[in-house]
Amino acid sequence: MTGLPWDASYHDGPAPWDVGRPQPAVARLAAEGGFAGAVLDAGCGTGENALHLASLGLSVLGVDVAETALAIARAKAAERGLEVEFAVADALQLERMGRRFATVLDCGLFHSFDGEERPGYVASLASVTERDGTLYVLCFSDVGPDPGPHPVSEEELRAAFNPSSGWKVAAIEADRVQTRFHDDGAPAWLATIKRI
Ligand SMILES: C[S@@+](CC[C@H](N)C(=O)[O-])C[C@H]1O[C@@H](n2cnc3c(N)ncnc32)[C@H](O)[C@@H]1O
Repeated sequence: MTGLPWDASYHDGPAPWDVGRPQPAVARLAAEGGFAGAVLDAGCGTGENALHLASLGLSVLGVDVAETALAIARAKAAERGLEVEFAVADALQLERMGRRFATVLDCGLFHSFDGEERPGYVASLASVTERDGTLYVLCFSDVGPDPGPHPVSEEELRAAFNPSSGWKVAAIEADRVQTRFHDDGAPAWLATIKRI
């Protein structure tokens, strides 16, 4: 688990990605009815996306390796009177939870894994996603000015998620990821991926 370095990024005020509200792309997907059934937010950070989905009545588990982020997420849930489960778990070993989800969200986690880690991460996601379930990956993209760190190409997404790894890419669309350092967000891909 790569928990300690990640935890440190939550010690001195909000991390660069911690914008204090759900990502617009996630809120839009939710408004369009894109989330159903049990939802997993992998690498949930301080929980804004998970909390937003819970506020819409969805059943959500947010997992992260950063205990400090999870403590902040739990405090926000209590303050807002929302029921959301937040737990420590390594996204590279999700099968250890012994649970299944109809919809999985990865907002900013995929692009933090290097090429060697990705096959394990993709298999870990597959192990907890129901057949016909949907995975959304919102990650920095390599197309457009002022990219975020570790931008990903569309080809990298397609190489990672394919029938041999248990997935079929339904759509990859250009979007934005809001950060504390981009006025109008950074270029992103929003990938909709089906478990087969
Ligand atoms: C860029 S942040 C995004 C956080 C959150 N999704 C958001 O949009 O604010 C990536 C998150 O993934 C978490 N993370 C990194 N490696 C992880 C792993 N192996 N398992 C679970 N969480 C991990 C980090 O602690 C961090 O909170």
